[in-house]
Amino acid sequence: MSESFDIKSSIGSYGVHIETGAFGTRLSERHRDLILADKFFEDTLPLLLPARETIFIEAMEGAKSLDAAPELIERIRRAGANRETRFVSVGGGVLQDVCTFVASIYMRGLSWVYFPTTVLGMVDSCIGGKSSINVGPYKNLVGTYHPPQNVFIDPEVIHTLPFDQQASGIIEAAKICFCRGPEFFANYLKCDPYPGMQFDSLGRMISQSLRAKKWFIEVDEFDQKERLLLNFGHTFGHAIEGASNYGISHGIAVGLGILCALEFNRQSLLGGPDYFAGAPIIGDFESHLDTMLQYDHTLPGAVAALSVPEVMERLKSDKKHKQDSYVLILVDRTGKVVIEKVPRSVESLQRVQSAITSVLGRYAA
Ligand code: GLY
Repeated sequence: MSESFDIKSSIGSYGVHIETGAFGTRLSERHRDLILADKFFEDTLPLLLPARETIFIEAMEGAKSLDAAPELIERIRRAGANRETRFVSVGGGVLQDVCTFVASIYMRGLSWVYFPTTVLGMVDSCIGGKSSINVGPYKNLVGTYHPPQNVFIDPEVIHTLPFDQQASGIIEAAKICFCRGPEFFANYLKCDPYPGMQFDSLGRMISQSLRAKKWFIEVDEFDQKERLLLNFGHTFGHAIEGASNYGISHGIAVGLGILCALEFNRQSLLGGPDYFAGAPIIGDFESHLDTMLQYDHTLPGAVAALSVPEVMERLKSDKKHKQDSYVLILVDRTGKVVIEKVPRSVESLQRVQSAITSVLGRYAA
């Protein structure tokens, strides 16, 4: 498979190339670039790129934190990076965040190229240009916009990824396509996405997801309106992910978060269990998410260990909320994703808590 398209951004267009074999061919063309790679590739990358300066980074949540930045920047300086250096990032979402961030601030900004190596990186975080960096206990509190110059996606790279990690990325693709609208979601489902899927279908799913995301990031690059819809599932999801001390992975937590957001409307007095009766797409979406969540065999134990009050505390401190309202991304009766301001009240919090308890109850051991 070989497919390319451009993404327009405020600092110019950049290319997305979905290309079987790109990991071997395109990566070895990068002779003068400094590679920042997931430590997972510590044994294999030197075989592919002998005698190349590479900085390996453990792809843990702590690596994408403000605390970790000074040491990394010193390592980059010791490796000789100057204004002519281009960074190459090899890894999943954590490496994307780290590389976007350091490329945006090192010597006031260098260009970078990205080779995503996880489903999540391929279907979502490789485009959009944002870095999301943790500060102490606060997830994604600071960040920058600094899109890559090119993104090279080789679907074959994920063949060794565990199925739960693949499911985690597939959930993000499902979310992006669902947010874009029924036609995109139907085309997404036609790719028959599941962990271990054929590379050809995987390539088509990646393309579908990135083309859906392209619309959001081109009409609203800086997260003022339309792009905020892509946070669907994230307000609940980040709270669950954080409360599990990142034992529940991002995409899996987002899957649970989407189910909580849907449940929230069913918990309203005017809503009830039939809230989505006029939108059959919701049933398809929920059942697809449920299938993906089943691939994470550690989920029942991790969910059972969660403290709902802690999830609530984290949800209440989400940075999207306003002074007088909680900002939630929800779905209306027609199946359209919408931004809703929910009044800060005891009743609202009870509805939130009840939605969370109901969904977590379905998945706990
Ligand atoms: N994390 C990349 C983006 O969405 O901008």
